[in-house]
Amino acid sequence: MHFLYNLAGILETSQINQPSITAMDLQTLTGLFFELYHKRDEKPRCFFAPGRVNLIGEHTDYNGGFVLPCAIQYGTYLVIRPNDEGVVKLASTNMEFRAEIPLAELKKKVTGQWVNYPLGIFDQFSQMKVPFTGFDMLYSGDIPYNAGLSSSASIEMVTAFALAVMTNAVELEMIDLVKMSQRAEHEFAGVNCGIMDMFVVGMGHKDHALFLNCLTLEHKRVPLELNGFKIIIGNTQKQRGLAESKYNERVAECQLAVTYMNQFLPVSKLGEISFMQFYKMQENIPDELIRKRARHVISENQRVLNSVSSLLKGDILQFGALMNASHESLRDNYEVTGFELDTMVAGAQKINGVIGSRMTGAGFGGCTVSLVRAEIVDMFVETVGREYFARTGLKAEFYLAEPSDGVREISQ
Ligand code: GLA
Repeated sequence: MHFLYNLAGILETSQINQPSITAMDLQTLTGLFFELYHKRDEKPRCFFAPGRVNLIGEHTDYNGGFVLPCAIQYGTYLVIRPNDEGVVKLASTNMEFRAEIPLAELKKKVTGQWVNYPLGIFDQFSQMKVPFTGFDMLYSGDIPYNAGLSSSASIEMVTAFALAVMTNAVELEMIDLVKMSQRAEHEFAGVNCGIMDMFVVGMGHKDHALFLNCLTLEHKRVPLELNGFKIIIGNTQKQRGLAESKYNERVAECQLAVTYMNQFLPVSKLGEISFMQFYKMQENIPDELIRKRARHVISENQRVLNSVSSLLKGDILQFGALMNASHESLRDNYEVTGFELDTMVAGAQKINGVIGSRMTGAGFGGCTVSLVRAEIVDMFVETVGREYFARTGLKAEFYLAEPSDGVREISQ
């Protein structure tokens, strides 16, 4: 069994999938832009923000803990041009819904529609008192929705970055755009998410993962030299139905754990508590459920630290073992996996040549991430996909993750 790469580094195998949602190539996208918004002297500009896959450090970011994600090659393109009509026009090649919103009405949410994400960013720019005119905007993306690969952070960051460039808001640094995107998600999408997704979508780097301390925002790049292993994303195709309400429930449970721990430790987030401190004090959390939630966060934090040192030493096997342990804790302590994710992960872990597999993202459906020996990728996809279908009736997709750069302008 073998597979080839073409010069662009794209896997030429019949078995690894491309996401079923596709982005238009730039030329076609610009052509469509002119059809929608007409040609004018001023040329539109094009921006791109990636999606991300989190390698380890799940449900730690909003707890002030550590994470280790990387940006991926799939993402969101945005073609944009200012207009002098005082109207923001939003369209996408992926969604039928379009909007034309006068500047004075930008504060209103359009709940349940994708335009809510860009609108959240416009609102942030208004709050920061950055002056802007109307814009003609066309989006096109290839990140599967609702799959835990940060399609929303990708839309938010491509919008924030493009607006910063188009309005010449030079005072806004990347970290400001990241924080604005997180606030947009809280205020417009109603998800009290952490900062990981936007951060890596903004600051990801080719062939590297990003090690981020979500409390201090200190970060560093970790080279992903995987010695013959590939990062394979498995999309369970199980929609993350309850994800938003369950996510906010977990955030609240962790806050309760902090309140219990505050009887002994003056901390504001679980991420400030070390593994040793927790093991000495865990009996003082009277509620077993809350103790399990804290156990996950604090042990996962330690796993991220261990993963970074394993990767820096080139100990991929150890890194894979930590990924497996992460899944176990997300399943048993944090209870955010579910039948589909557990089935796919168990199917992957039993294959010889797979050294680590876990759910990635918020959970309750979405994707898994596995470290798979390059020579068996085809067999892995075929076997895991077949068994997964037999047990769930769902047809999984598998993508090769290429660790990529963060948000940027694309020249045409
Ligand atoms: C979602 C959130 C992130 C993070 C993960 C879980 O992706 O957007 O901030 O909390 O879940 O690790």
